[in-house]
Amino acid sequence: MDTLTITRPDDWHLHLRDDAALVAVLPDTARRFARAIVMPNLRPPVSTTALAAEYRGRILAAHAATPGLPPFEPLMVLYLTDNTAPDEIDRACDSGFVHAVKLYPAGATTNSDSGVTDVMRCDAALARMAERGLPLLIHGEVTDGDVDVFDREAVFIERVLRPLLARHPSLRVVFEHITTKDAAEFVAAAGDNIAATVTAHHLLMNRNALFAGGVRPHHYCLPVLKREVHRAALVEAVTSGNRRFFLGTDSAPHAKGAKETACGCAGCYTSHAGIELYAEAFDAAGALDRLEAFASFNGPDWYGLPRNASQITLRRLDWTVKASQPFADGEVLVPLRAGERVAWQLG
Ligand code: DOR
Ligand code: ZN
Repeated sequence: MDTLTITRPDDWHLHLRDDAALVAVLPDTARRFARAIVMPNLRPPVSTTALAAEYRGRILAAHAATPGLPPFEPLMVLYLTDNTAPDEIDRACDSGFVHAVKLYPAGATTNSDSGVTDVMRCDAALARMAERGLPLLIHGEVTDGDVDVFDREAVFIERVLRPLLARHPSLRVVFEHITTKDAAEFVAAAGDNIAATVTAHHLLMNRNALFAGGVRPHHYCLPVLKREVHRAALVEAVTSGNRRFFLGTDSAPHAKGAKETACGCAGCYTSHAGIELYAEAFDAAGALDRLEAFASFNGPDWYGLPRNASQITLRRLDWTVKASQPFADGEVLVPLRAGERVAWQLG
């Protein structure tokens, strides 16, 4: 199979940033994906429906700023804080454009300092979300200093997620960017209200990629890449046919200088090859026939949204990723596989 035509996919976990950075990166996503769940970890965070409405307007303006892009719909997300009120959940549900609420444990990752210090503090908001069916998107890592960075996700399941679901058994949850066998097994064993997104980079790389020939800052993201046994478990999960695993790139652009420095930011930029990298991963697993469900059906089905009507075509024809691409304020970003080959091409 050298060409593959599939229903146009959606990205169920994306960082678009804001202002000039937003204008710089949005076209990569809009060329491939019809919709994206847009992460709210701006500074200040998108913590209210009113802020989400303004951010949505800026995304639509950025889309209009590049002529000729296919239509694109941003699906907005609220940033959960210790102080999110149940009324705010109602406003989000009634808005029609907010599709979820994101839980960042405080300090877990980029711009998470306004995140949740203890989920018990959000219990009233979570109860309202369960009542109204608004999904909670979870960055599933504990931040406790006693926990090894490679174990943060597995420990989160036991310390936070299981107790949270025991308190709110009907809460709809997406375990975002899962990176471990533990998380894949947890989701597979859970009920229909629990789903997960998986990134292309966690399907394609294990933690050796962090140190291949030297420290590789452009492979550093959170949750950090794990051992091969975990990567293999993720590939098995996404190619298993289970409809509760779906595509979420977690493409997270940072300026080159913010990555290549003494204390570099976490995040891999993958939107420039946002569907092509998944095609590589599914192809390597001999499961290209499972890509369309993962990329284009499972997400909208779980969120209760219509599947896209248009299609894209991918070709097995390799190409070289640019060494860098324009970002904001005269800076560049370094995309994943910079200067290297990607085996599949769009169009
Ligand atoms: O690697 C990451 N980068 N993980 C996250 O959770 C946040 C993201 C970002 O915003 O840069
Ligand atoms: Zn993310």
